Amino acid sequence: MSHHDKPLTLLGDLTAADFLANYWQQKPLLIRGAIPDFISPIEADELAGLACEPGVEARLVEEAGPDGPWQVSHGPFDEATFKRLPEENWSLLVQAVDHYVPSVAALLDEFDFLPRWRLDDVMISYAPPGGNVGAHIDQYDVFLLQASGLRRWQLGGKLAEDAPIIQGIDLRILQEFTVEPDSDWVLEPGDMLYLPPGWAHHGVSQSDDCMTISVGFRAPSADEAITSYADYLGEQLPASQRYSDAGMAPAQQVGELDDAAVERMRQLIVSTLDNPAQVAQWFGRVMTQPKYVDQVVPLETPLNEAALVAQLQDGEPLYHMPGSRFAWRSDASGTTLFVDGDGHACSPELAKRLADTTPLYPEDLELEGAAALLTQLVNTGSLGFMSDEGDDDEEY
Ligand code: SIN
Ligand code: CO
Repeated sequence: MSHHDKPLTLLGDLTAADFLANYWQQKPLLIRGAIPDFISPIEADELAGLACEPGVEARLVEEAGPDGPWQVSHGPFDEATFKRLPEENWSLLVQAVDHYVPSVAALLDEFDFLPRWRLDDVMISYAPPGGNVGAHIDQYDVFLLQASGLRRWQLGGKLAEDAPIIQGIDLRILQEFTVEPDSDWVLEPGDMLYLPPGWAHHGVSQSDDCMTISVGFRAPSADEAITSYADYLGEQLPASQRYSDAGMAPAQQVGELDDAAVERMRQLIVSTLDNPAQVAQWFGRVMTQPKYVDQVVPLETPLNEAALVAQLQDGEPLYHMPGSRFAWRSDASGTTLFVDGDGHACSPELAKRLADTTPLYPEDLELEGAAALLTQLVNTGSLGFMSDEGDDDEEY
């Protein structure tokens, strides 16, 4: 029996398998007491502090802003911004809080029934009474976990991506929002609402300390996938691989693009693109590209292998850097560890160990090729020793 066959409190006593079969990407699920006695892993002041840091993606949404209705401003903010805000009807939204606050990142362990490479980020909002961002749809799967205070959620059913939105504002607010039967709830701390992509929702703060944690999962669009895969493949194709029409019939009309020509081109495209090994190599790379590329910072003075081994053996664990993404895959051509958009061929044991989220210790050096790959990943900024971090990072 796998650990995914047991009922999870987080999923309202469904097993992960039941949840995935019946709700994930299909329909909403309200879970009362998903995390019993939940205490917010972050306080409102700390969230506001983050929103004042350069490099942190933060938005302020004011229903009646000084410059007009539904005003959206982008961080970094300063104290003066927060001082001028009214007592009601605004929201502060901070993206990727998991990158900055370890106790927020730790929440992700609860979601380990989903592949980590599907994760977008953990967004956290704070709102005084009435604060909301309007009724809208997202193209993401999201778990809305109430962290503190109260938020009323109303759902408006599954809508098409092009459902009409209000024009002339910076937010995508639905022109029409009709609450479905039995889709109106007030969530308390520890309650959670799962929403599949495309489901209309409207969440309004009902208290002066409303904080909502959005654990968001992304899925690449066909549009992005085709463009990105074609780019990846294009870089590797020889210029000699071309449209070819050896043995063709004489042209009937000099201006005609005939069926046979279209079919030759279709064959060239389909046979080139339909390459499972290349799809896998591209997919691993694209899904591990960092959300913020500038958060993965190569070491100014690269470490050599001996220095890395010595530091690890000194008892300093090596951590996955919070903005880094790891995944691995084994197939007939071998095992690849994908890290921050790159692929590294290595043993399956080493790939699995590295793509695990727990820190690395000296005993991990016993895995074949570990010292070299760990050194490389420390130098690229995907792994790091805590003691090497600057003061700025420690105050998070
Ligand atoms: C919020 O936390 O205010 C909004 C989250 C969402 O609707 O996706
Ligand atoms: Co939303």
